[in-house]
Amino acid sequence: MPAGEIFKNAGYEQDPRWTAVDDYTLAHLQPSSREYNQHLDYAIKASRDEGLPPISSSPVIAKFLALQCSIGNVKNALEVGTLGGYTSIFIAKLNPDIHITSVEINPKHAEVARQNVTRAGVGDRVEIIVGPGLEVLPQLKRDIEEGRRQPFGFTFIDADKENNWAYFDIAVTMSTSKGCIFVDNIVRSGRLVDEKEFGEVSIKGAREVIEMAGKDNRVEAVAVQTVGEKTYDGFVMAVCK
Ligand code: DHB
Ligand code: MG
Repeated sequence: MPAGEIFKNAGYEQDPRWTAVDDYTLAHLQPSSREYNQHLDYAIKASRDEGLPPISSSPVIAKFLALQCSIGNVKNALEVGTLGGYTSIFIAKLNPDIHITSVEINPKHAEVARQNVTRAGVGDRVEIIVGPGLEVLPQLKRDIEEGRRQPFGFTFIDADKENNWAYFDIAVTMSTSKGCIFVDNIVRSGRLVDEKEFGEVSIKGAREVIEMAGKDNRVEAVAVQTVGEKTYDGFVMAVCK
């Protein structure tokens, strides 16, 4: 079961052109002959069967993030919001030396993710920590300050959207120089700039990242709009100085 299947009836904005283009490009650039595709597909299927929400990264975005880690030769990555482990598996498979620390508040999601990453053969490099990001991230920061952990060259924030800025703010303090921070679900079919939506938690959380990052001398950031088989959305990419 390819990831796109689970997005089909999940209520996302879709366009046959976006889906057809992802189908075509993935067929060539991520062909089923890649042995780990079966593990990615399995993670999607197991997550669905276990009742996890259909909100994982799309294959294109997960691969894009994995390639960012490759460009940066990232050795330590942080993910906030593991869900079923799909993005972690992609990142770990494309970056054989990487260690991923992934934070998940929901014990059930974490358990499914652990099974998925183990089955994919990357369980030794994907450390899943169960707990609220607002508690776990400060602990990780202390670990780094006290030399028990290395700073992160890459961070992917994809959890409860109202805490986007809190996660971003602390992620900056845990980043390497030139470390990259990505924040998912920033555009939301353009709702980012629709005044009627400004009170909605995910839009509020997205706008806060944009407006705070813009004033923050620690980073240079950009928001990128994306379309694809999942929906019309986008992410913020920030590079730490
Ligand atoms: C939702 C969350 C996500 O991380 C995502 O990529 C898409 C949707 C959501 O909570 O609706
Ligand atoms: Mg997301």
